[in-house]
Formats: sequence, structure tokens, C-alpha cells
Amino acid sequence: MSGPAFPLPTWFIGAGNMAGAMIAGWRAAGVELGSCVAIRPSGQPVEGVRTVRSLVEAGREPHLVMLGFKPQMLGEVGPQLAPTLTRETIVVSLLAGTPAAALRARFPDVRAIVRAMPNLPVAVRRGVTALYAEDGDQAARDLVSELMTALGMAVWCPAEAQLSAIGALAGSGPAYVARFVDALAQAGAERGLDPALAKILALETVLGTGWLAATNQQPMDEIARRVASPKGTTLAGLAVLDAELPALVARTLNAAIARGEALAAEARSG
Ligand SMILES: NC(=O)c1ccc[n+]([C@@H]2O[C@H](COP(=O)([O-])OP(=O)(O)OC[C@H]3O[C@@H](n4cnc5c(N)ncnc54)[C@H](OP(=O)(O)O)[C@@H]3O)[C@@H](O)[C@H]2O)c1
Repeated sequence: MSGPAFPLPTWFIGAGNMAGAMIAGWRAAGVELGSCVAIRPSGQPVEGVRTVRSLVEAGREPHLVMLGFKPQMLGEVGPQLAPTLTRETIVVSLLAGTPAAALRARFPDVRAIVRAMPNLPVAVRRGVTALYAEDGDQAARDLVSELMTALGMAVWCPAEAQLSAIGALAGSGPAYVARFVDALAQAGAERGLDPALAKILALETVLGTGWLAATNQQPMDEIARRVASPKGTTLAGLAVLDAELPALVARTLNAAIARGEALAAEARSG
């Protein structure tokens, strides 16, 4: 086995889309998960992890707890969880829009509270995870850094407010990119391409462009310039896209941030 190690016991509370993707990434990284516990009401097994339905079945008090349920569930899960946490426990929260202070109020004595904002490509270890903590010791932060770096890029935010912007960009980003790929494919299919071929072409084009930018460290603007020769076809297409895309994406991120603020308000009142 290689990579970082979870302090034992570690509990994953909720193992749905996001926590499940992270667990898949850690599994792929060879991180030892056999002694960790996943807690989810359905009891649906999580590969490589002991899975139980409720906190009472989880066993000894955890040294690390990852909160991977929906933010709206905090009012229900928090009071059951609080008595099981100790001064040794590091809490890693995935709950979008739930401030560190709201978590500290619920779990006042824990060793550290770290907010993490990952995105779905963590499943294949190409994720982006933004981290924020306003308390806890350096060793606790280092441990969380190491665990998240096994899933791709991890970046600490100096200000909590940045988490919502990063969440809107990178956390939600895979959904936006997925929609763009589908729109590209659909537009191709509507112009006579076989729909299955159009889907593959759209995906490979996005992957190839990202790969080119990452490996050659080429700015996206430079890539666009290299494709769009003067008075050519791409330039004609870009004239349409550029007129609408920046404003559309700005509105998209604003909507996600506004929703995060509404969730934060719910967490404060609940
Ligand atoms: N999805 C993303 O891309 C993304 C990105 C960044 C952050 N997040 C954050 O990640 C968290 C989870 O989102 P998700 O998309 O993974 O949601 P999800 O797929 O609906 O998963 C929710 C998980 O919570 C579990 N759960 C429900 N009630 C519970 C309870 N009372 N006690 C313990 N576990 C309970 C569910 O159990 P069952 O499996 O048994 O139903 C499920 O495993 C959210 O807080 C979200 O803000 C998500």
C-alpha cells in the first residue's frame, strides 16, 4: 500500500455521489480503507469500506469524520454525531454553504474543523479540492492536505468566502463542462452527424484541448487564436459564442453562489 493513511477509526458519514467519488479515488491511490467505516441509511455497500446504516453501529469514537451528506441533513445528523466526537477528532465537511463557525457551534470540542470543496473528478484522481480551516493544529491540516492531494490538486483558501466561488467554479464545474460537451454533440448531430459519433467527437475535443493546455502550459486564449485563422470558419463561430458565453457563465456562477448563501442561511437558522 502507498499514499497517505487515515487515522483510525475514520468514519465517512454519507457515501453518495461525492464521498463515494472520493473513496473511489483513495481506493485507486492504494490508500488503506479496510478499517474505515461508511455510514449511510441505505446500507448500500461501499467497496473496500465496512458499511453500516447508523452511527450506533459504527464502533469506537472516530479520529476523523468526513461529513458527506446533504447540508440540509445537518440538523438531523449533527445532534446524533456530536456526543461521539472527542478532542482527538478531525471533522472534514463537504457540506456546501455550511460555514465553519456553524460546524464549530455544533461540535465545539473537536480537534479541527476543515471545510473541503471537492469536485467529481476526484474519483479518477484528477479532482480539485479547495480547503479551509480557521482552527486546528498544523498536523491536522497537513493530514487533510495529504489525503486530498491523493485525489488531485488541493488548495487552501485564506478566506472562507472564496470557498463558495471555488465551489461555483470547480465544485459545480464538471456539470457545466458536461452540459457544454452535450450541447456541442447535439449541435453536431443536428447537422447530420451520427449522434454517437458526435458525442465521442465532442468529448475527445474537450479532453484533447484540456490536455494540450495542461501539457504545453498554453493559455486557452492562445489555443483559440491558433485554431481561429483570420477571416476563417472558427472565427465566425467564435463571434457568436463570445457575444453570449461570458455573460451566461457569469450568471451561472452567480446562481450557484446565491444558492450557497441560501443554504448557509438555513444552516444558521437550523
Ligand atoms: N456532488 C458534488 O459534485 C459535490 C461537490 C462539492 C460538494 N458536495 C457536497 O457533498 C455533500 C454530498 O453531496 P452528494 O452529491 O454526494 O449527495 P448524495 O449523492 O445525495 O449523497 C448523500 C449521502 O448522504 C447519506 N445520508 C442521507 N441521510 C443521512 C443520514 N441521516 N445520516 C447519514 N448519512 C445520510 C446518503 O445515504 P444513502 O447513500 O444511504 O442514501 C448518501 O450517501 C453535500 O453536502 C454537497 O454539498 C457535492
